[in-house]
Amino acid sequence: MADRRVVAVVGATGAQGGGLVRAILADAGGGFTARALTRDPSSDKARALADAGAEVVAADVDDQASLARAFAGADAAFCVTFFWDHFSPEKELANATALARAAKAAGVSHVIWSTLEDTRRWMPLDDDRMPTLMGKYKVPHFDAKGEANQAFVDAGVPTTFLLTSFFWENFIFFGSGPAPGPDGTLALTMPMGDQKLPGIAVDDIGRSAYAIFKAGPRYVGQTVGVAGDHLTGQEMAAAMSRALGRTIAYNAVEPAVFRTFGFPGAEDLGNMFQFKRDFNAQFCAARDLQKARALHPGMLTFDQWLAANAGRIPIG
Ligand SMILES: NC(=O)c1ccc[n+]([C@@H]2O[C@H](COP(=O)([O-])OP(=O)(O)OC[C@H]3O[C@@H](n4cnc5c(N)ncnc54)[C@H](OP(=O)(O)O)[C@@H]3O)[C@@H](O)[C@H]2O)c1
Repeated sequence: MADRRVVAVVGATGAQGGGLVRAILADAGGGFTARALTRDPSSDKARALADAGAEVVAADVDDQASLARAFAGADAAFCVTFFWDHFSPEKELANATALARAAKAAGVSHVIWSTLEDTRRWMPLDDDRMPTLMGKYKVPHFDAKGEANQAFVDAGVPTTFLLTSFFWENFIFFGSGPAPGPDGTLALTMPMGDQKLPGIAVDDIGRSAYAIFKAGPRYVGQTVGVAGDHLTGQEMAAAMSRALGRTIAYNAVEPAVFRTFGFPGAEDLGNMFQFKRDFNAQFCAARDLQKARALHPGMLTFDQWLAANAGRIPIG
């Protein structure tokens, strides 16, 4: 135990971090041990991680001192921020900066920062193809993560920048699944036109992160994109139809229409889909399927994910 390398995992009770903790624990001989960070070590999810063999420690990304304590003695750290808990890009940037500085102070030798593109590099604020949101963002939950890359560089901590993809679990937990239209026909509504959406089983993000840590310094300083499939809305709807035994159409609304849907974050997500649609070749190329599978050969395809999860997709 003593000679195993400690990986401090932010968001360990959640989707990405949870996948990483499970990947570490599943590989008892792999030379790593998981330190799960949570705001509440007494929660059911935290206790389940402890029961499974993780070290569980208290930390809050809003409290840098707690991060410094939680990272102390760790060899590696997986860092993620939680936009949908607060909808504030400024907070995301501040949290990421605190994570980077805490990792540096603790002497962590390898950080993975779960990031996304700063879309303003492709679409400056004065580009009126999509509205500017919150004063200085195009896709707030992307832009702040991309902007935060520099915080890790500035902190001088050895970092791999992990570009994630759309979680297929959004169809289960995020209200993104098929819903009946006015005529009762089930439809998957996404403003992607005929372009391809890189997607992933969220556990595969954690497994990919584990593979990066296991590879040692090879990926330090690099940007690594992960996805299990690149599929059009039509292809996803067809795959869902096969898996669910129900006809599901693809409803390719325009991003401008999606932005008016009125749920919290609709404008942000409308812009996000438009970015992915309008810069599709570059967005997909940054998540090369062959490279992702070379890193993590067990990466699920959408059909494989559906075979295990279709029954969990709520259908309105
Ligand atoms: N949905 C997608 O398709 C998608 C795709 C790419 C990227 N993302 C990004 O993924 C990020 C969220 O990651 P996730 O889905 O893995 O998270 P998640 O499942 O929503 O939550 C992760 C865990 O974070 C912990 N947490 C929340 N606030 C915290 C705080 N202040 N300090 C410490 N821990 C805190 C919570 O644990 P405790 O309650 O135990 O503290 C929670 O269980 C978002 O920023 C989102 O933009 C999402």
